[in-house]
Amino acid sequence: MIELGESKRDPYLANLKVGVVVPAAGSGQRMEGKPKPFLQLDGQPVLRHVLNLFLSYSWVKDVVVALPEKQFQEQPFWLKQDPKVQGVLGGATRRDSVWNAIQVLSEDLDLVIVHDGARPLTSQKTILDCVKNASEGPGAVAGIRVVDTLKTTDKANQVLETLDRKGVWRAQTPQVFTYDLLFDAYHKAIQNDWIASDDSIIVKKAGGQVRMVESSGSNFKITVPTDLDLAEAILTRYRF
Ligand code: C5P
Repeated sequence: MIELGESKRDPYLANLKVGVVVPAAGSGQRMEGKPKPFLQLDGQPVLRHVLNLFLSYSWVKDVVVALPEKQFQEQPFWLKQDPKVQGVLGGATRRDSVWNAIQVLSEDLDLVIVHDGARPLTSQKTILDCVKNASEGPGAVAGIRVVDTLKTTDKANQVLETLDRKGVWRAQTPQVFTYDLLFDAYHKAIQNDWIASDDSIIVKKAGGQVRMVESSGSNFKITVPTDLDLAEAILTRYRF
């Protein structure tokens, strides 16, 4: 358990040193080939919204963004505005991009937040809930409980069975872990070529514990073109 202090700005978190890893190097296959973090949302790139979620916290010490080749070679000015932020070249999969970023984080961090570069509407409450949970021991993953009925189908979409949704969640990011746990787990994942679509799969497989933290549906990942319209509508309505 990490000892937390008090600060005016963020009570209980003042003693923490937290790093943020932002995988933003996807090719945007489901977004007509456009990398999602670099699409415009409410007048600025999605990734810039994402960075703004974290940069005002005094306990965030280091932010590493995994970038596609083009954006890595010609880094946008707004990426270089805050000295806490640095870019690295992403990899072929999300796992590889996160690993490239973890390796350049400073090593004296207590916790690392991994947050998708295409998830700009995360609330401060979700970020703080995940950080506080992770500081108490196991890793913490934002998510929402499944409310729809779950079906499995064959290749022709014929229903095979209906699954029990009790205790089933949709995992999102932020996903927060202690630095050592995340580094060691990713090291093993790369050595053994574990396939993983999120960080908690890797941490669990490496023997770590992970707790789900209730978030909200507005913390969705921009994935298809209509998601941008939805995100714009939410931003305009709530201005958070
Ligand atoms: O592809 P998916 O929607 O799961 O991507 C989640 C996040 O991981 C996105 O922000 C995307 O840019 C990033 N990613 C990455 N490197 C890849 C693939 C995805 O950084 N090779």
